Amino acid sequence: MNTKSPGFRSVAWRYPAAGVLEDLAIRTLEAEFGGGPRAATGTAPGRVTLVGEHVDYVGGLVACMAIDLSVAVAVRPAQDGWWRATSAGRRVERSQPAMACDVGDRLFAAALALQPYDLRVPALEMAVEADLPESVGLSSSAAVILAALVATLRLTSARLTPEQLVTAALVGEREIVGVPCGQLDQRAIVHSRARSVLILNCATGGTQSAPWPSSDVNMVVATSGEHHDVGGAEYRARREAAERACAILGVSNCQEIGGRWRELPSALQPCGRHIATETRRTGAAVSALEAGDFRSLGRILDASHESLRADCEVSTARLNAMSAAARAVPGCYGARLVGAGFGGSVIALVESGATEHCLRAMTDVSRESSGWSVHPAPGLEVSAADVIG
Ligand code: GLA
Repeated sequence: MNTKSPGFRSVAWRYPAAGVLEDLAIRTLEAEFGGGPRAATGTAPGRVTLVGEHVDYVGGLVACMAIDLSVAVAVRPAQDGWWRATSAGRRVERSQPAMACDVGDRLFAAALALQPYDLRVPALEMAVEADLPESVGLSSSAAVILAALVATLRLTSARLTPEQLVTAALVGEREIVGVPCGQLDQRAIVHSRARSVLILNCATGGTQSAPWPSSDVNMVVATSGEHHDVGGAEYRARREAAERACAILGVSNCQEIGGRWRELPSALQPCGRHIATETRRTGAAVSALEAGDFRSLGRILDASHESLRADCEVSTARLNAMSAAARAVPGCYGARLVGAGFGGSVIALVESGATEHCLRAMTDVSRESSGWSVHPAPGLEVSAADVIG
């Protein structure tokens, strides 16, 4: 979507568009690399976090959902033994899959992460097509790796359990691409259920579903145009501070911190307070969802943004302005930055009648902004049940 154009995508439940993206990926593969063996495809959705940001890497509680914007990957064996990938006009070609930070290497990362499962993955040619935007806090990186994993499983007629799939995706992201992420993105994309919110306990890997009960309420997302970088030093620093806070307090996971953040050295207290209050907010969000209480849920989103701004220090002036613009729209329940922060996107919870108005208010903050109305979509456990389970 373009900057100021009218007609935001506010269509009702529109998944799956997967088949369309997969066909496009096959066509791109053939256009880039010529004819060849039949390709297999995989599609993975992006995600939004409702609440529970910057706690997943220390065992936190997260409410999140896969959304109906996704990435499709087509793969086929390369006849000359070279590894090739193409995405958004970029092309990567290697004699061996390599560790680097190009989107092509993310695709190869999927094949490398499958090595422990002894699937005899041949050299691959791969192509990506997506309606999920890249690097805007909606988890395109995890989605690309997971879509490539699903496509490669289909190509090799192999099957993984959901837990093995999450592990392979995390290995790909952390060890091969080199991003020190938590487990939120991968688990949201694998375990989400349609029309529900996934409650993820990152201490145990356990999941529950909470209802997304009403078609009277919409989730909207707007990108800020500010590049977000999970691999960067700032994300790493937030993760290290949270790990230090847990270690000093001697807690095995961050959900146990509670009021004890006050015992931390003063420099770590804001981090500890964010974790403690975010944990409380996620618990409260589950109750609000169960009660269909969107006013309370909206206030929780606002409070989460404030905590991410003031205590976690991952917001930007533009993200603050976009959240404030959304909140000023009558019918908006609440708004917050989504994902790691340092740029990226803002989500808002809004009465369906106010959707377009709210999106316009958010995207009017910056010429570089785009917006969507998104819906909770099924994760790979459901949509790729032929190879996952
Ligand atoms: C990124 C990471 C996740 C999580 C969020 C912040 O999306 O990949 O693991 O840490 O940031 O909640």
